[in-house]
Amino acid sequence: MKVFTKRHEIEAFLNEQRSQGMEIGFVPTMGALHEGHLSLIAYALQQTDISVCSIFVNPTQFNDKADLERYPRMPEKDLAMLAEAGCQVVFLPEVEEIYPEPDSRRFSFGLLDEVLEGARRPGHFNGVAQVVSIFFDIVKPDRAFFGSKDYQQVMVIKELVRQLQLDIEIVSCPILREADGLAMSSRNMLLTGAERKAATLIPDVLAMSRQMKVKGASIRVIRQSVMNILAKDPLYKLDYFEICDGETLKAMDTWDDAAKPVALIACFVGKIRLIDNLVY
Ligand code: PAJ
Repeated sequence: MKVFTKRHEIEAFLNEQRSQGMEIGFVPTMGALHEGHLSLIAYALQQTDISVCSIFVNPTQFNDKADLERYPRMPEKDLAMLAEAGCQVVFLPEVEEIYPEPDSRRFSFGLLDEVLEGARRPGHFNGVAQVVSIFFDIVKPDRAFFGSKDYQQVMVIKELVRQLQLDIEIVSCPILREADGLAMSSRNMLLTGAERKAATLIPDVLAMSRQMKVKGASIRVIRQSVMNILAKDPLYKLDYFEICDGETLKAMDTWDDAAKPVALIACFVGKIRLIDNLVY
């Protein structure tokens, strides 16, 4: 496995691979890797010749400084996991390598950046777009692999690729979950024992909401039930639970046969903010 920290070095290496006809797959991450990340590497290995993983805790996408500071960093363990998974290339740059000067670009994603995570974390998706567009410029992948755990992020990245007219296929991959249903996340390791146990309520209410839909409940009743259940647990603070049109992220008030509904949730368990979603 090759590990690069300098932009010009990874660019030179990948240019050489590209000139030999190799297809490049890319998995951007912020490290503290888990099986969910490794599943993206596995897709990249299946679908392309060279798999590139970046590990970079991107400061511009954190609107909460405490969240940035407490974000777990464990590059040695990450590298061992990537080597074990068969990843061929890792890019592990310092902040100055990616942002030699501050990035003042402002993207505009319309509704995609105004609802859900966009509304709660102002500037978050702009920061994601900044860093991902820089990485796309460096790696120039044929395909890039993203987890649908971050449903809205995948939509933003697809829109970014469309706006910048990049010839990159964005592959959306399924959510990997722990045995008890909790979506894998680097933030899970920040939960206390009691919080970790309580966190399974997130996938549980998502599953319950789908069952209620099957039984004919209205969106209003489903939302109310989810809010009631979470309000009973003192460890929880619900940020949002929405049922949206999966193609546009427009909130749905009533069922629409033409739409592909997706339930999206964000809540604090203790101090840690977790997100999840379920396509009905
Ligand atoms: P990070 O949270 O490290 O996630 C990296 C990738 O792993 C994302 O595409 C995310 O959706 C995916 N992922 C995380 N948990 C997953 C799970 N349980 N199952 C499947 N995939 C999962 O997302 C980011 O980093 C950053 O915003 C980034 C795109 C790297 C830009 O900085």
